[in-house]
This record gives sequence, C-alpha cells and structure tokens, in this order.
Amino acid sequence: MNLSQPSRRALIASALAQSALGLAACRGRAQTPAAAATLPPLKDAVAFPVGAAISVGGLEDADYQTLLLANFSQVTADWEMKMEQILQSDGSFSFAKADLIAAFARQHGLRLHGHNLIWYIYSPAPFERVADDRAAFERAYGNYILAVGGRYRGQAVGWDVVNEPVAEDGQGYRDCLWRKVFGMDYVSIALDYARRADPDAVLFLNDYNLESNPKKRASFLRLVEDLQKRGAPLGGLGSQTHVQADLPPGAIKAAVRDLASTGLKIHISEFDVTLQPSRLMSRAAKLEAQARLAGEAGEAMAALPAAQRYAFTTWGLRDKDSWLRHAPNAGDGTDAPLFFDDEGRPKPAAAAFLKGARGTA
Ligand code: G3I
Repeated sequence: MNLSQPSRRALIASALAQSALGLAACRGRAQTPAAAATLPPLKDAVAFPVGAAISVGGLEDADYQTLLLANFSQVTADWEMKMEQILQSDGSFSFAKADLIAAFARQHGLRLHGHNLIWYIYSPAPFERVADDRAAFERAYGNYILAVGGRYRGQAVGWDVVNEPVAEDGQGYRDCLWRKVFGMDYVSIALDYARRADPDAVLFLNDYNLESNPKKRASFLRLVEDLQKRGAPLGGLGSQTHVQADLPPGAIKAAVRDLASTGLKIHISEFDVTLQPSRLMSRAAKLEAQARLAGEAGEAMAALPAAQRYAFTTWGLRDKDSWLRHAPNAGDGTDAPLFFDDEGRPKPAAAAFLKGARGTA
C-alpha cells in the first residue's frame, strides 16, 4: 500500500466524519443550524464535567474565550498554577497569573481544577537551600502547599497534589528533591498539607502512560493502595491520557477500569492524541484513530459510576494551542492533537467523543 497517499478507505471515512460534523467555523460566529444539530456544546451533551487546559495568553483571544465558554465547564491552568511560575527565587510567591485564571473561572462559573502542587521536575533554590535540614524543609514544603492550596480554597474543586510520581519505565518511583528529603512519604505529607489547605477539594495523584504501560499503571496503583491503607486524604486519580494514534483499542478503557477499582474519583486529566511521530499510518488514518480513541475515552467515562466521574479534560483548546505545537521537541509544527482545529472548528474526534460519552457509539 502506498503509505504516502491516504488510503481510499481512510479518505472516505474522514470525509464522512467531516460531513457528519457539519463543520462550521466557531470563530465567534453562531454555528450553522446543521452544525449545531450535529454537534451540541460538549459540556451540555455529557453526564460529567468537560474541561480544558487554558492559559492567560489564550484568554487574550476573543475567539478562544468564545469556544471555551461554549463547550467547557471546567478549566485547568496549563502553567500558571505551578511552582515554576508561583515560587520566586527569593522564596516569595507570585500569584498574578494564577489569579487571572481563577478570576476568569469564577467570573464565568467554571469549575477550577488546580494543577499542580508537587512535581518531581522541580528543585527550586528556596527548597535546595534547606534540603539538609528536614524540619526547615518541611516548613517550606508545608507553607508552599498551604499558601497555594489555601489561596483557592472554596473555589478549586480538586488539586493534582502530586504529579507523575511513578518512574518513566514504570519500575518504581521517580527520584526527586522531595523524595530525597522525605522518602516516598513526600506524597502522603503533601496530601496531608493539601487537606489542611482546602478541606473540600478532591485531592489527586496524576500520571501519564497509565494506559500504554501496564507496569507503570501497576506501580501507580501500588502507591495508591498504600496511601489508602494509611488513610491518606486521597480522593481521586488523574490519568493524563496523552496518547499516540496507534494506541491499541481498549487500552484507555482498561486503564480507567483499573483506576476506578480503587473506588476513587477518576479524571481523564490531559487528553490529547498526537499525530506524531509518523509511524506506518497516513495523517487521515491517524485522524480516524484519534476519533476512535476519543470515542473510547468518552465511553470509559460514561461507564463509570456517576460518583466516580470527576471530569474529562483536554490538554488545550484548539490544535494550535497545544503544548505539542510549542514544546521544544514539537515535531514539524503540524500536530493536530485536540478536538478543535486551528480555526476552532470541531473535528471528528469531538463528534466521536460525544457519541462515546452519550453511549451512542
Ligand atoms: O510564557 C512564558 C514566557 O513568557 C517566558 O518568557 C518563557 C520563559 O521560559 O516561559 C513561558 O512559559 C512557558 C509555559 O509553558 C507557557 O508556554 C514555560 O517556560 C514552560 O515551562 C511551560 O511548559 C508547560 C509544561 O507543562 C511545564 O510546566 C506546558 O505549557 C504545559 O502544557 C505542560 O503540561 C504538562 C502537565 O503540566 C503535566 N503533564 C504533561 C504536560 C505536557 O508536558
């Protein structure tokens, strides 16, 4: 088969999917009745909150705001609520950007999901300076979590308290500054401070590749089981679900099912389907696979008991807003990982997600 030419089947499938969408520009203009009839606003069409990662920069764009407010009922700050933005080198805190995100959410009645308090990638100077003094380090650790979690107390519906604790290959847990000082207790200590900061927020562990790496999922669940046995205030599990188009069918559902067996709330927290790297699939075939995976994710969420359906979040709004278009190794800049194209028009993945989430797949 000539891989440089999209297969005839894929092209027909893609054309049918596009026509079924009744594609219409969402650039602030009302969608055409046909489009509105075939693709209702995401947030109104499913039985759980639908979220998006947003940025202060994105909110400066009127079309971005229009698309966000029409389709999503929850937001996560892409970057602005992280330690790299809040904690200054002198140990002070800057909440200017984080507050803009929180204020926008409050102004428009959007749920706010906090992301994230503790992440292995950070080892900022204010903490490094006291790493040899456990008591001083815990004061700094607790003060940070109490300050950030406490600032949005009563607004944030949940927090990713610890992000990505499991080692990349799934064998054990990441080495990081926090673990160097506290051992793996850094996780339960963070959860305890987060509970003090906000008595009502759902407290999450959040990680990636839980659908594509069973070893990683097993290590994640071992940590969860230990925390539950110790009575840690863990309320939810985030499966980021950054996936590739060639992820085998059923992998997303298996991961959600396993995580849900803990009885905790489930957040598909950072969904996107990259079209890179170009494996043995045409772009049209990858967009078709993207829609299939979006449908599976919708079905996985809908299959959960209502009490465990925390939210489904895409990691970005339009393809051009995606981290996969801006990350240092962002490929050739043509990636299209999300539900809305660069112009804010719904893609087949959006329609497929709705069909899956409404049980009409
Ligand atoms: O906007 C500032 C710019 O003003 C400044 O000059 C520049 C200097 O470095 O930084 C810019 O901010 C960057 C920000 O993205 C906005 O583009 C930060 O450097 C950069 O670190 C930040 O990257 C984010 C990354 O997490 C690290 O925080 C990505 O946008 C964000 O999508 C990515 O999201 C992560 C999740 O938190 C966890 N799961 C994986 C996911 C993707 O990597």
